[in-house]
Amino acid sequence: MHDLIKQAAEDLVAAKYVVALTGAGISTESGIPPFRGKGGLWERFDPMEIAHIDAFMKDPAKVWNILVKEMKEIVDQAQPNDGHNGLVKLEKMNKLQTVITQNIDGLHQAAGNTDVIEFHGNFAWQRCMDCSKKYETREVDVSEIPPRCDCGGILRPNAVLFGEMIPSGALWRSRQVATDCDLMLVVGTSAVVQPAALMPVIAKQTGAKVVEINPERTPLTGEISDYLIKGKAGDVMNRIIEEMGKK
Ligand code: APR
Repeated sequence: MHDLIKQAAEDLVAAKYVVALTGAGISTESGIPPFRGKGGLWERFDPMEIAHIDAFMKDPAKVWNILVKEMKEIVDQAQPNDGHNGLVKLEKMNKLQTVITQNIDGLHQAAGNTDVIEFHGNFAWQRCMDCSKKYETREVDVSEIPPRCDCGGILRPNAVLFGEMIPSGALWRSRQVATDCDLMLVVGTSAVVQPAALMPVIAKQTGAKVVEINPERTPLTGEISDYLIKGKAGDVMNRIIEEMGKK
């Protein structure tokens, strides 16, 4: 692992335009479970039953009782970890320009990154399905399920559910920065959900280096990514930043 840490530090020092693509793995050290793999949310719940727009339309109370209540408590308490803080340090070094995140927990912004593309929306806000009025999640009274808007409409998470389109602005900007970057750090994603998993492919096809940080291999490993640093985001980011400090 140490050779790859040195390699990543060298590549980051040489890079001019770094973009990060992150997934649930970067937030596990903040106490938020991943979706897949051991201890993943989808081990306990069928995503098509609780995270698909059709499921929400069919029975919003069921989705609220599981997804929102489960997520709300955990996300409300979560704090950024060294994985998030490492990306902020890279931004302060004028290396990292943009974070594309699949996470809806707002932890990159809480850590201090200033350009974060929320590819799957966010959980900080709920919106009315009738009038689209937005409410801060922490202000929403969940004693009545599903909670309702002043207009009487049902509130839903401002996050992208399965079966829904990626917000066009987020998709467009992500493709743009993936095309323009010369190094993409892919941190804590299983890279199985599209079109987010396409961003490292676009980066690679347009000449960038792709570096994965993940305790496990993904479909990108050995195909799209130049190398995988097998480890946890917090520890690996700390080592990389330290190694860059020696250059
Ligand atoms: N550091 C780095 N990577 C980690 C860590 C860690 N501490 N812990 C776990 N991982 C890795 C896992 O090995 C796995 O490859 O993070 C990945 C998490 O994968 P998923 O749970 O599938 O999460 P993600 O890739 O973000 O899922 C994509 O799927 O369910 C939908 O909308 C949801 O945004 C989500 C999308």
